[in-house]
Amino acid sequence: MPFDLQHVRQDTPGCAHVLHFNNAGSSLMPQPVLDATISHLQLEACIGGYEAAAQAKNSIEHIYDAVATLIHCSRDEVAIIENATRAWDLAFYSIPFEPGDRILTASSEYASNYIAFLQRAKKTGVIIEVIPNDEHGQVSLDALDNMLDDKVKLIAITHVPTNSGLVQPVAAIGKVARKAGVLYLVDACQSIGQIPIDVQQIECDMLSATGRKYLRGPRGTGFLYVRRALLDQLEPPFLDLHAAQWVSPNHYEIRPDARRFENWETNYAGKIGLGVAIDYTNHIGLDTIWRRIKALSYQLRSQLTTLPDVIVRDRGITQCGIVTFTIEGHDPEDIKSELAASNINVSVAVRSSALLDMDARKLTSVVRASVHYYNSEEEVTRFCQQMEKIAQ
Ligand SMILES: Cc1ncc(COP(=O)(O)O)c(C=O)c1O
Repeated sequence: MPFDLQHVRQDTPGCAHVLHFNNAGSSLMPQPVLDATISHLQLEACIGGYEAAAQAKNSIEHIYDAVATLIHCSRDEVAIIENATRAWDLAFYSIPFEPGDRILTASSEYASNYIAFLQRAKKTGVIIEVIPNDEHGQVSLDALDNMLDDKVKLIAITHVPTNSGLVQPVAAIGKVARKAGVLYLVDACQSIGQIPIDVQQIECDMLSATGRKYLRGPRGTGFLYVRRALLDQLEPPFLDLHAAQWVSPNHYEIRPDARRFENWETNYAGKIGLGVAIDYTNHIGLDTIWRRIKALSYQLRSQLTTLPDVIVRDRGITQCGIVTFTIEGHDPEDIKSELAASNINVSVAVRSSALLDMDARKLTSVVRASVHYYNSEEEVTRFCQQMEKIAQ
C-alpha cells in the first residue's frame, strides 16, 4: 500500500496543534485509537465495567492476535501488561538465578533494567557483566562470543536505548545466545512500532514492549512475549487468580499460556485502544514505517549537522528515529523549553537513564528529537530553522 502522508496526518488530531518530535516519549494517538478507547470508557459508564468487558470480549481478545501478527508469534505467547518496565520485570524476576550466575548486557542498557540486575546481584549473588562495544558503539559480537561459558544464564539487551538512535544488532546477538543455549531477553520498548520485529528471527526467549511510544497506543499499556517452550519453566514472581487457579486448599495450578504473567484487573479501554493501535501499525506496514522513519531521521541528522555548535550524538551502524544532539554552551533542558515555547515537543535524556553509556561518552544529558512516519519533511526543516535560532 503506498504511504499517504496527508491521510495519516489528517488522522492524527495532534498534528494540528504541535510539531511532535517526542515519539520516543509518547506518540500522538491516531483518531481510531482515541475513538476505540473513549467509546469503551463510555460503555463502562453506561452499562457497568464488567458488563462492558463482556460485551467487548471480541475486541479485548483481539489484541493477542494483533500482537502475534506484529511480532510473528502465537497469541498464547503474549501477555498484556501495563507498561514495558513491568513486562520486562515479570520476565526477569521469573528467572531462577543462582549465586555466581552471570548476566551479560550492553553498556546502553536502560536504567530500570540495570537497577533490577543490581538488586538481583545484591539478593542472589548474580554477576553483571557489560559486553564491550565495537568500533561503531554497538555490542561487539566477538567480545560477546569470548565471554560465554556455562555460568552465563542470561543475555539481556535493549534493542534501541532510551538515550540515542543506536540500534543494537539483536538478531546477530540472538544467534549467539541460541547457539550457546543461553536465555535471551530483549527490551523492545523504543523499537516496537518503528522497526520491524520478528521474534523468530531475533531468536529471543522474552521480549518486552510498551504501547504509548512508536505504537501510538494509549498510555499505561504494554506487552510481554515469552517463547512457548519456556513458559512452564518460568514461574512469575506474582500469581493471582487469573494467572493461576486455586484447585485445593494447599495447591494452585499456573495457567499454561503467557497470561500467567498478567493479573485479573486491567485497563480494558487501554487494551482495546492498544489493539487498534497495533492494527493501525500493521495496516500501514512496518517496512513502510521503518523506511520513512529512516529517511526523516537521516534528513534531521543531516540538517542538524550543518548548524554551528550542534553535535549529533547517535552511534551504531543502523540508526533509528531517535535523534540525539547537544549544542555547545546550551543546557538541553533550556533547548527543550525554548522549543516548547514554539509548540515543538522534544525530550531530554539524562545521565541516570542510561548511566554507563552516558558516562562512557562523557555526556550528562542530550536533547532527544524522535520522529515518526506521520511527521513531515517540512516539520524537520521548520525544526532545524528553530534550532538555528537557538544555537546562535
Ligand atoms: C529502553 C527503554 N526501556 C524501557 C522503558 C520503560 O518503558 P515504560 O515506561 O513503558 O515502562 C523505556 C522508557 O522510556 C525505555 O526507553
